[in-house]
Amino acid sequence: MDHARDWIGKNIATGTTRTTGTAKKTQTAGLPESVSFAIDIGGNVVGSVGFHNMKDNEGELGYWLAEKQWGKGLMTEAVEAAVSFAFRELGLRRIYANVFVGNEGSRRVLEKAGFTYKGITKGCHEKDGKKIDVHEFELIQ
Ligand SMILES: CC(C)(COP(=O)(O)OP(=O)(O)OC[C@H]1O[C@@H](n2cnc3c(N)ncnc32)[C@H](O)[C@@H]1OP(=O)(O)O)[C@@H](O)C(=O)NCCC(=O)NCCS
Repeated sequence: MDHARDWIGKNIATGTTRTTGTAKKTQTAGLPESVSFAIDIGGNVVGSVGFHNMKDNEGELGYWLAEKQWGKGLMTEAVEAAVSFAFRELGLRRIYANVFVGNEGSRRVLEKAGFTYKGITKGCHEKDGKKIDVHEFELIQ
């Protein structure tokens, strides 16, 4: 639920919430800085997949899914569809993603979508006052 509240809050804040399709924040150059898709089941937002910090044909992939929906193959399907859209329609050439060490589901989603493992970065994030290591992945068109 925290992911859902954060996501809806951010998209309302930028005036871009939609139940399906894209949510965009426009940079001065006219290119979107971020694009998000809602994962909608029966009219309810149960997750999101999107690209952030887009510049120079690169973007960071992010996603979340409501716990009740885990393990049904939804995120693998959503990531594959979003990545294909990003290469085709957004002109991205490189997509990168960071996964907290220990998040095996997320890591597997990226592997299944064809991402290449780049390595580990030590202590670059902080959660609940603890430094966390991340696995870095990328997908190049
Ligand atoms: C990580 C997350 C996106 C996975 O979504 P999902 O729809 O359940 O994933 P899928 O059903 O497509 O499963 C993809 C693969 O991961 C595996 N998997 C899923 N959860 C797993 C877990 N906890 N441990 C090990 N493997 C797991 C599945 O078995 C599947 O692999 P397989 O086909 O080889 O069996 C979802 O759990 C989530 O939103 N978590 C909370 C937020 C988060 O972690 N976001 C990502 C931040 S980087």
